[in-house]
Amino acid sequence: MRILFLTHSFNSLTQRLYAELVEHGHEVSIEFDIADSVTEEAVAQFQPELIVAPFLKRAIPPSIWSKHLCLVVHPGIVGDRGPSALDWAIQEGETSWGVTVLQAGAEMDAGPVWASVAFPLRRGKKASLYRNEVTEAARRGVLLALERMAEFTAGRWAPLEVSGTRNPVRGRLRPPMKQADRAIDWHNDETATVLRKIDAGDGFPGVADTWFGEPCRVFDAWPEARISGAPGEVIARRETAFLRATKDGAVWVGHVKRSDGFKLPAVLGFAAEAAALAEAPLATWWAADHATWQDISYVEQADIGYLHFDFYNGAMGTRHCQRLLAAFQWAETRPTRVIVLAGGEDFWSNGIHLNLIETADSPADESWANINAMDDLAEAIIRCNSQLTVAALAGNAGAGGCFLARATDQVWVREGIMLNPHYKNMGNLYGSELWTYLLPPRVGAEGARRIMQRRLPMTARQSVECGFYDHCFSADAGHFAAEVMLKASALAIANDFPQQLAEKRRRRAEDEAVKPLAAYRADELAQMRRNFYGFDPSYHYARHHFVHKVAHAWTPRHLAHHRDQRATPVA
Ligand code: COA
Repeated sequence: MRILFLTHSFNSLTQRLYAELVEHGHEVSIEFDIADSVTEEAVAQFQPELIVAPFLKRAIPPSIWSKHLCLVVHPGIVGDRGPSALDWAIQEGETSWGVTVLQAGAEMDAGPVWASVAFPLRRGKKASLYRNEVTEAARRGVLLALERMAEFTAGRWAPLEVSGTRNPVRGRLRPPMKQADRAIDWHNDETATVLRKIDAGDGFPGVADTWFGEPCRVFDAWPEARISGAPGEVIARRETAFLRATKDGAVWVGHVKRSDGFKLPAVLGFAAEAAALAEAPLATWWAADHATWQDISYVEQADIGYLHFDFYNGAMGTRHCQRLLAAFQWAETRPTRVIVLAGGEDFWSNGIHLNLIETADSPADESWANINAMDDLAEAIIRCNSQLTVAALAGNAGAGGCFLARATDQVWVREGIMLNPHYKNMGNLYGSELWTYLLPPRVGAEGARRIMQRRLPMTARQSVECGFYDHCFSADAGHFAAEVMLKASALAIANDFPQQLAEKRRRRAEDEAVKPLAAYRADELAQMRRNFYGFDPSYHYARHHFVHKVAHAWTPRHLAHHRDQRATPVA
């Protein structure tokens, strides 16, 4: 089928649906929702049999839905309407929620229902629920709707009319959630309430609040069970986060957005205030219970060390990389046989921290420091000769994060995650993380070139098919974690473990003799230096647009396939 995606951006949900439908043999093209006239032009060029709207911020124009079947993905249960579906569900403590695929019509979110998929609503950030439960339900819902199209055409099935009928449904029309609805009362709100409010607005738009007498928006909350203070008081700081007391406990807040800026680690957003506060450090890398906030944590089971690093949005600044390197080097000293680099729940890594770079006095210098810190980490992982190493990707990865994972001996990916192993979209960055050393043995020189040139996302399955990663399994996060443990123990107890380790050391020594790692790194960094300090400012422009979330003025050519076709001329 010829399917046109009409979407606000090519976000992770859209990427997942795109990959899934292409895999099912459909011809899919993408148009960003920029202006009605542009959408009309795209439809005229592509002549789609179906239009799918995975992520829209405004209504589809009547000129389109009156002539074409348009299916909209709504992140709410049947009957739910409005732009703050998930926000209300989280804030009001719903325990089950869903995604509805409905037909676009005159009233927004009120058209006939083609499919709906339910899921349990866990405690979590809105963006996390969106990337996981909502994305999976949307995938199933859209596939179901596509199956039903044939039945519909044959007159054997009709979508469910909800609006204006007596069909009893749980969902209802909800207004956009305003900041007044989100407001935190630090003196009277309990920890659970504060968490719900911040989660409901995370990653966008955040909760408008006042910190140190200044207005800002807050994100990235985690409960603290041991330390408390006078309600409202900012008690301490730890790495990127502040701890603030609620009525019955305290909450860590990891990120803030000041009125004139963009999202930053909280202690950087309020740097002077942070400097005056006491640090509440953690004594070790060992994972505490879930009673406090800990972005890097280590767990050991039998002969396996699991290093978790849950960095907000998967972005890794200079200090994140340095701290993770220190934790990795410490993990190497443990009497284990395997180290599993487990990343975070939502992201494994998205590469260097573009927001921290953007806010630095010299973005070029900070880019340089950040990529060097990233390379130190990649190099340490490659050089590890005391354990076998595994990267277990339970969450998405992008850019340098994808190549950092390849620095391990084996990369295992959860089915359903999205990978964006390319730097091209960030102003043609050359990239580092030793990719020139790591990729060719796995995918060949041509394969490496194809990966680096490709601007499109890669599914977990594709990453294994092309030899980039090693295994893909278990779409469910819990099952994935369990299977990672089983596979890691199999590695650790294998009879030939000593031979495997010896072979790894031998290969590394042999590679080093042919071309030292330092030479690969120097070659890559020479190119990166040009990207950061050279005459062409593309990277700095691209980063600025990314961090400031400048809306697209047109759909990139590699997504809008219809623009390449010499199709029906526009009337
Ligand atoms: N640095 C800082 N923030 C980053 C980031 C990075 N490297 N990568 C992602 N983010 C942030 C986004 O700004 C967004 O922030 P928000 O919380 O304000 O919404 C959030 O992470 C989620 O990213 P988003 O783009 O919405 O997720 P996605 O799943 O739709 O797309 C990527 C994933 C990887 C394609 C996209 O985030 C990306 O291109 N990231 C930049 C990767 C990069 O170029 N790194 C530098 C070179 S190594």
